[in-house]
Amino acid sequence: MHCSESIVAKNVQITSDIFVIDVENPGLKINPGQFFMIKGWSGEPTLMRPISVFKADVRILSFMYRVVGKGTRLLSLMQEGDKLTVLGPCGNGYPVDEISGNVALVGGGVGIPPLCHTAKVLSGKGCRVDACLGYRNEVFAASDFEPYCNTVAISTEDGSSGYKGFVTDILQPENYDFILTCGPEVMMRSVVAKAAGSGAKVFCSLEHRMACGIGACLGCSIRTKKGMRRVCKEGPVFDSALLDW
Ligand SMILES: Cc1cc2nc3c(=O)[nH]c(=O)nc-3n(C[C@H](O)[C@H](O)[C@H](O)COP(=O)(O)OP(=O)(O)OC[C@H]3O[C@@H](n4cnc5c(N)ncnc54)[C@H](O)[C@@H]3O)c2cc1C
Ligand code: FES
Repeated sequence: MHCSESIVAKNVQITSDIFVIDVENPGLKINPGQFFMIKGWSGEPTLMRPISVFKADVRILSFMYRVVGKGTRLLSLMQEGDKLTVLGPCGNGYPVDEISGNVALVGGGVGIPPLCHTAKVLSGKGCRVDACLGYRNEVFAASDFEPYCNTVAISTEDGSSGYKGFVTDILQPENYDFILTCGPEVMMRSVVAKAAGSGAKVFCSLEHRMACGIGACLGCSIRTKKGMRRVCKEGPVFDSALLDW
């Protein structure tokens, strides 16, 4: 676990409410699905905010985020040269060593960004990766998946791009050895239900309000089939077979 003040390299607006902030990577290796607790402001809100790694290389850590409240609004105001406190990488991430063969990445909303680094790492180890990306309307990050994916399928609820409907409609679980999903819980429950009996193993990345982000406060604990687990420490990625849904 590393905590440092990293310099903002850039912070750009992608859609009406989605931004990407790049900071210098202080030499960290990131497992796909891991996140950082970040804060770039003084005073309120006092707690750092959890944001997943969108892209990572030896020089730059990149975070894609939606402005939903005060913390993310303040983050969106940061400029090149500002200092951002980053604590991480936090959590476990997807079990890359276990994953092989045909892999579907199923993302919804701001669950999509962490699957981009995942696509890069899995394609790098020889997996055949398909991305199914679901949006309400505005599409973001889809082109970032293209270098690493065999196919990138898009759905929008209003039909403005790609398939009109839910991303789970375009997933064909029987084609895959592994399905990795991140997004709204209702979407991930639907992925798990659709994949039942298909032979695909499903891993879900959960979202939960977080305070410490490092396993100390127990505030993000969830009930699983094997007892209580902290989303920030034992998660955010869980084998769907463990989830008490
Ligand atoms: C492990 C993890 C990884 C995440 N990765 C990303 C990411 O890559 N990109 C991204 O845009 N967001 C991500 N989030 C969500 C992000 O942390 C919240 O949107 C952010 O903390 C909101 O802070 P705020 O001060 O702007 O809003 P607040 O003022 O704290 O809240 C504004 C609204 O957002 C809701 N909200 C706040 N936190 C969450 C949360 N964790 N889950 C669901 N709703 C929430 C609140 O209920 C409220 O309605 C992640 C969350 C977790 C737990
Ligand atoms: S946020 Fe404190 S234990 Fe997870």
